[in-house]
Amino acid sequence: MSYDPEVEVAGLELTNPTMLAAGILGMSGLTLKRVVGAGAGAVVTKSLGLEPRIGYSNPTVAQVGCGLVNAMGLPNPGVEHFGYELEEAEGIGVPLIVSIYGFSPSEYGILAKKLSEMGADAFELNVSCPHAEKTGAEIGQDPRVVAEVVRQTKESVEKPVIVKLTPNVANIVELAEAAEDAGADAVTAINTVKAMVIDVETGKPVLGNRIGGLSGPPIKSIGVRCVFEIFDAVKIPIIGCGGIGGWRDAVEYVQAGASAIQIGTAVAARGLNVFREVAEGIEAFLSKKGFRNVKEAVGVAHRK
Ligand SMILES: Cc1cc2nc3c(=O)[nH]c(=O)nc-3n(C[C@H](O)[C@H](O)[C@H](O)COP(=O)(O)O)c2cc1C
Repeated sequence: MSYDPEVEVAGLELTNPTMLAAGILGMSGLTLKRVVGAGAGAVVTKSLGLEPRIGYSNPTVAQVGCGLVNAMGLPNPGVEHFGYELEEAEGIGVPLIVSIYGFSPSEYGILAKKLSEMGADAFELNVSCPHAEKTGAEIGQDPRVVAEVVRQTKESVEKPVIVKLTPNVANIVELAEAAEDAGADAVTAINTVKAMVIDVETGKPVLGNRIGGLSGPPIKSIGVRCVFEIFDAVKIPIIGCGGIGGWRDAVEYVQAGASAIQIGTAVAARGLNVFREVAEGIEAFLSKKGFRNVKEAVGVAHRK
């Protein structure tokens, strides 16, 4: 029986289970096209808000061991200016998911409606950025607010809505349950883990914003644990994210319960080849193990 690399997540057809994570190379139509050319099965844009935003003062990224701590502050050109990039990305050939953030549940709905008319295929709600005031994780730590954000977005658009969850809570499962109950089509787990870096010579925090979010290999096991816990509690698909740099990491997420995976920091660290390497590695491994597609391997770590 031959292996089929395609996956369906939240009604979106992916040629393979790899996706570009929000915030890395996702700010222009041309770079999104390059990511697709490199083999990604879907792309997520940088998070967009209603108004343009400059973001935090430098430095906004610090390298720590094999990971990154970033506090970009959600810099983006605002929704109106992004229309040009969406036109540029037209015919991209894979699902184009636009990440959005707002300062209230109604803002998410307004943004999704505008972007839906501008050509977005689906939305990922950023309710999980660990360092933005009055949005991101400030919204995403309260299940009732998450539910309201999802409800207002679902009322505004008929396209798939994915909710990106924060790991910076005691119980990520109740956030996933709230998202599902409010009508979300999928969840992404996880965004970055709240962190900071101090320069011991000066004794001062390195990042302009002091506090940021850790990404890359150091957070993989946290992400895998979150996906494993969520899988037991919800029926909607889970997209695994956090520290994936090779096919083994991706397979681990699938075995924990992820139907697809996102790659962020590894793109910056290793280049665009990572998509094809991971997609081909998943396919080679799963077919060798006798699986006919990714779906058959989702959640195998739960089997007794
Ligand atoms: C520089 C940088 C910018 C990011 N910007 C966003 C963003 O705009 N929206 C969002 O939801 N996540 C953002 N993230 C989080 C990533 O999408 C991802 O959830 C996180 O980095 C974990 O995955 P990774 O270890 O593969 O990078 C950003 C991460 C980095 C490193």
